[in-house]
Amino acid sequence: MIRTVPTAPYKDQKPGTSGLRKKVPVFAQENYAENFIQSIFDSLEGFEGKTLVIGGDGRYYNREVIQKALKMAAAAGFGKVMVGQGGILSTPAASNIIRKYGAFGGIILSASHNPGGPSEDFGIKYNIGNGGPAPEKITEAIFERSKIISEYKIADAPDIDLDMAGSFALAGMTVEVVDPVADYAELMESLFDFVAIRNLISGGFRIAVDSMGAVTGPYAKEIIEKRLGAPAGSVRNATPLPDFGGHHPDPNLVHAKELYDDVMSADGPDFGAASDGDGDRNMVVGKDMFVTPSDSLAIIAANAKCAPGYAKGIAGIARSMPTSAAADRVAEKLGLGIYETPTGWKYFGNLMDAGKVTVCGEESFGTGSDHVREKDGLWAILFWLNIIAARKEGVAEIVRKHWAEYGRNFYSRHDYEEVDTDAANGLMDALRGKLSSLPGQSFGDLKVEAADDFSYTDPIDGSISTRQGIRILFEGGSRVVFRLSGTGTSGATLRVYVERYEPDASRHGIETQAALADLIAVADEIAGIRTRTGRTGPTVIT
Ligand code: G6P
Ligand code: ZN
Repeated sequence: MIRTVPTAPYKDQKPGTSGLRKKVPVFAQENYAENFIQSIFDSLEGFEGKTLVIGGDGRYYNREVIQKALKMAAAAGFGKVMVGQGGILSTPAASNIIRKYGAFGGIILSASHNPGGPSEDFGIKYNIGNGGPAPEKITEAIFERSKIISEYKIADAPDIDLDMAGSFALAGMTVEVVDPVADYAELMESLFDFVAIRNLISGGFRIAVDSMGAVTGPYAKEIIEKRLGAPAGSVRNATPLPDFGGHHPDPNLVHAKELYDDVMSADGPDFGAASDGDGDRNMVVGKDMFVTPSDSLAIIAANAKCAPGYAKGIAGIARSMPTSAAADRVAEKLGLGIYETPTGWKYFGNLMDAGKVTVCGEESFGTGSDHVREKDGLWAILFWLNIIAARKEGVAEIVRKHWAEYGRNFYSRHDYEEVDTDAANGLMDALRGKLSSLPGQSFGDLKVEAADDFSYTDPIDGSISTRQGIRILFEGGSRVVFRLSGTGTSGATLRVYVERYEPDASRHGIETQAALADLIAVADEIAGIRTRTGRTGPTVIT
């Protein structure tokens, strides 16, 4: 029943920031997905008879790869696979199921916020038993294995009907097709004050949640409409589609513009939120107020006690390096630990496992806590609703009061997408070459205090991650950070993160780009973005 299939290695199966991501035609090459899945199994030990969780965001090619993964898991010796019905599991829901049922690990099929479809993106990611993304040690082992793999094992068995819940036998392994929503909805109900949120909504507070044709549709329908009583239609684009209905499922000001415009219109909803392809990212907007992800982290941390699941307070906060220091000010005031990690949720896992931090966040529209080991879009949306219900204030009021109390970290990210890879690498190398000469130099009113290439030593296991982004820190707390994206699939994406701290409340109303104009100009002057990339401006500003 088990077939051993000879195969030749592919050289490009190096997992990026969040798993292996390639275009569907790349994944559809002979044995491409099989090679990678076998490389995962070959890099793990001690899973015989244990449980694996499998699910994806429903994008094009999801079902095909799930069938392969099921048969390969059976051949590898897993005892059981729990797979989401319809092949669906949001990333945070998968993390929850791994933890709740003590699974050995999980395979999540997603390319997150990247578009889906026959010529768009697909991805495979491995999560470990704590429910979080595999650490670098494992992803490197997988890559090394993928370069020399010569065979894979697969069970010769018919496909499993993914649309029918229940237990099925597959070559001696059990496949349990599970409701993808139930466990997750129960977890959310245990963390947040659903009664207060229900009262808020029945009192006339109008919300709009955009699932962008991706995985959170069924979750948001169950939680927001059914359990919290929001009127039908409050959740938009709620059916997960293989091509996300043509949406680019990235919840930001560019791709979720329709929702944003709606909330900003005079008779629009009071609260708008969106999540990405696999449900781990979020965007929150209120009337006249877009909440930056960095501010969202700080505000959730400052108001954590509003939510029953965090009523005892939080242990500490972690943020990725490019995320603004707004959370640092909260941590300082509340006397909490604060950790600055490289970009990528996987770096939070050890800190959460060790009980050092409870909430974590990234500028890339990710917020979450130790309830799972992934960032969690709906969790963040529910946290905001809980805070609004508890404080009886709207989003804008909460944000402005937060700035008044802690000062405002003006923040923006400028992306230059699909830049020529050599040009992008050249720009970063040139910056690295300048690092030692920058401190002490002045650019207009801005004097460089320090400059480095961020390197992180994990305080728990001592592992070191170098070259994680170039930081130019100016006197007074302003900074510019340069990084190349680790999630793109074509060319290079240069990200420029710009931040300025403003303690003076009378200046908190300035438009963000205007407040950062001098830093934006200096970033170009130092890095030569225009000349090196040939671009006159960023493709996306968030
Ligand atoms: C994924 C990861 C995040 C990370 C983001 C950065 O979404 O899950 O943890 O912040 O990628 O992406 P980038 O394109 O900047 O490498
Ligand atoms: Zn995602």
